[in-house]
Amino acid sequence: MITGKEKSELLRLAGLVRRHAHAPYTNYRVGASLLTSGGKYFSGCNVENAALTTTSHAEMNAIATAVAAGEKSLKALLVLTETDPPAFPCAICRQSLAEFDRGEMLILAANTRGEIRETRFADLYPEMFGPHKL
Ligand code: THU
Ligand code: ZN
Repeated sequence: MITGKEKSELLRLAGLVRRHAHAPYTNYRVGASLLTSGGKYFSGCNVENAALTTTSHAEMNAIATAVAAGEKSLKALLVLTETDPPAFPCAICRQSLAEFDRGEMLILAANTRGEIRETRFADLYPEMFGPHKL
């Protein structure tokens, strides 16, 4: 569970960072923001590359920024696109998120029309492969 204030802040940050998306090949701009269990916020955008396969996803970049700041416990992640209905993180990003899930993570998918969907991460990635499996 997150508060209305936390949700608003996640939306605000995802909107800001999405403006920095580097998406000249697909023109599909993605902004992701996350809230750690300790109450800190981080964000990331997609960064495409002429070599295509080296493209990095917004969610992964947000996670990398949090980890670089020493934060490894995620409470919520919001992803903002223009897709209708709002699109949830892709399968590769779900695997990246599984690494830092503490069993309580909430995933929010929002779009530029103001629509928002929410689900527990565990429902998005059933039988997830994570550190607890090793
Ligand atoms: N993208 C993300 O940033 N996150 C996802 O989970 C899905 C895809 C990006 C990658 C690429 O720059 C663009 O969206 C189209 O696939
Ligand atoms: Zn992805």
